[in-house]
Amino acid sequence: MTAHPADLPRQLADHLERAGALRSPAWRAAVESTPRHEFIPEFFQRTDTERGTMWEPVTRTAERGRWLELAYQDQTWVTQLDRHVTPGQVSGPVTGEPTSSSTLPSLVVGMLENLDVGEDANVLEIGTGTGYSTALLAARLGDDQVTSIEYDADVAARAAAALTRAGHSPHLITGDGLDGAPGRAPFDRIIATCSVRHIPAAWLAQARPGARILVTVSGWLHGHGLALLTVNPDGTADGRFLPGTISFMIARSHAAPAIPSSLYDELTAELGDAPARPASVGGDVRRDWTGVFVAQLAAPGAQWQARRTDGGPWIDYYIDPVTRSAAALTPVPGGGWSVRQTGPVRLWDDIERAVGTWHDAGSPHTDQFRIHINGDTQTITLDETAWTLPTQGPALSV
Ligand SMILES: C[S@@+](CC[C@H](N)C(=O)[O-])C[C@H]1O[C@@H](n2cnc3c(N)ncnc32)[C@H](O)[C@@H]1O
Repeated sequence: MTAHPADLPRQLADHLERAGALRSPAWRAAVESTPRHEFIPEFFQRTDTERGTMWEPVTRTAERGRWLELAYQDQTWVTQLDRHVTPGQVSGPVTGEPTSSSTLPSLVVGMLENLDVGEDANVLEIGTGTGYSTALLAARLGDDQVTSIEYDADVAARAAAALTRAGHSPHLITGDGLDGAPGRAPFDRIIATCSVRHIPAAWLAQARPGARILVTVSGWLHGHGLALLTVNPDGTADGRFLPGTISFMIARSHAAPAIPSSLYDELTAELGDAPARPASVGGDVRRDWTGVFVAQLAAPGAQWQARRTDGGPWIDYYIDPVTRSAAALTPVPGGGWSVRQTGPVRLWDDIERAVGTWHDAGSPHTDQFRIHINGDTQTITLDETAWTLPTQGPALSV
């Protein structure tokens, strides 16, 4: 790719078209007119090392040529770690948890295509991030039809500056996107580039009948499914999950509460004394895209951690800190898994039942699941089986 700024958006559009993400002339025009480099003047490049994942800063000032070429790659570029670290603040590779990014362009553009917007649509975006996707929306629809909400004030300020540089002035809000933007409603389309445990009631209340909501439903076991919902005139909504394997960082207000180390120690000690039985579903279900999604539906309050002691096997712990329930999955030499459980909720029994139902249905991908919303009751269904999504926040202080 030749690193000439004027050519790069068009080259990115060519790539996105070849990849099948970009399918319409209107979105092609938006990609061609949006300078992605303005939204990522600095970012982290991931490297997997013996010490684990490291994040190397790439900045406009330090390495202009490399930075510019990378900015137009079809890559997610992380722009913030641990809710405060930015690339300009560090001089070499660092560790950390990504908390803001410019998402993979093919994913962003594919989602925008799936949103199926009309020229006069009033659109709400949750998760402004760098502002790149906001700019694409503004380029396509005009500033006045785009409202975008970002939780993190520093991230929001950088996005606002980048949008100005790119010649856009959509409605920007700093706050919790799960509250929506009542002053800008009703919306025809709502799109989120962070994931949620359930669909926020405010989005439904602020959606026009017939509106579409495109959002990744995720949870604390890191299962994901991209849901496309249509809002009915009576305020209920129905939808399906789209093909693919798309994941987004969870909305900050839906993030898992930290498990106090004292509680973790108590529960693992109880598990040490609990009887073991063979597990019909192994701990490796976590590595199956839909398997972990189903496990999460069955145990929405559970969080996963892997630990080992003194060179022993890695043990997968599933801990629900609110009900004080836990399960430990240990690989059995020669194959299979054993499980020990403690607490009032038998987490692994629930997961085995749900995963068993999914296996009996032929282990279909998440795109065979459906989602229904009726007030506070939100269910995900596979054929005749329904799982209820948790619509209350964590009852554990963080
Ligand atoms: C993957 S990034 C967004 C990518 C962005 N659309 C882009 O093109 O650059 C997700 C963003 O969602 C934000 N976020 C997380 N929880 C949020 C919430 N409850 N409300 C609004 N924004 C949130 C994060 O701070 C982060 O910047």
